[in-house]
Amino acid sequence: MQPLYEREELAAITGGPLRPGGLELTGKLLHHSGLAPGATVLDLGCGSGFSLELLIRVYRLVAVGIDPSPLLLAQAGRRAPQATLLQATAQALPCIDGSFAGVVCECVLSLTGDVHLVIREMHRVLRSGGVLLLSDVYAHEKGRFSTSPRATSCVNSTVTLAMMTQALRAADFELLHFWECTDILKQLAGQIIFDYGSLGAFWNVILGQATGQCTHDCTRTGVKLGYYALVAQKR
Ligand SMILES: C[S@@+](CC[C@H](N)C(=O)[O-])C[C@H]1O[C@@H](n2cnc3c(N)ncnc32)[C@H](O)[C@@H]1O
Repeated sequence: MQPLYEREELAAITGGPLRPGGLELTGKLLHHSGLAPGATVLDLGCGSGFSLELLIRVYRLVAVGIDPSPLLLAQAGRRAPQATLLQATAQALPCIDGSFAGVVCECVLSLTGDVHLVIREMHRVLRSGGVLLLSDVYAHEKGRFSTSPRATSCVNSTVTLAMMTQALRAADFELLHFWECTDILKQLAGQIIFDYGSLGAFWNVILGQATGQCTHDCTRTGVKLGYYALVAQKR
């Protein structure tokens, strides 16, 4: 089944970027990044290219976008034609060591299934002193969601904040800024309920049938979700 982030319904709810927080959250991260115009930045899991366009047009950065989805890369190419685009996954970046001043990674880490490996890869491709701009879903308790293979979304392999910050430390990143952003997740859920009547009704549209049970219903798993944004620096 087509992943949630490739579905038009998600972009219609968020107004573009395929995640909570929109370009406002990207702008906040960039504001605290210290990245100067002309710096080379990787948008890892760039999706349909909304952040790439912002990086290039507003912040005057040189941007590279990587994503495994040919569909989303094609959209990114139309939205940000000046960006260099590569089809690859975060687990094995086709980039030489130390090639970027910044890595932007928005709502992607939780899809990869291996936080330690991906954070090490991001560390590898950053130059010394380079910055990682990260935002994602987190779980309040350790545990994985028992999601349907028919519905891939950012809650698939969500980790706790402790697991994520431990992976940052293990890779030798220094945490510079951290923001608790769970309110934007609540806003997105509210928007979905406003548009569809309930979260279950939305998932039934995405899953293509009235299943009567929602595999992403957090109350069923007992795992509460949150959202964070952070800036970390490669030592
Ligand atoms: C929730 S969307 C976010 C897209 C974009 N960052 C944005 O803010 O609009 C998740 C993105 O991660 C990409 N993705 C999924 N698995 C990935 C992986 N293993 N490595 C890199 N990107 C991945 C998807 O194709 C999708 O574009």
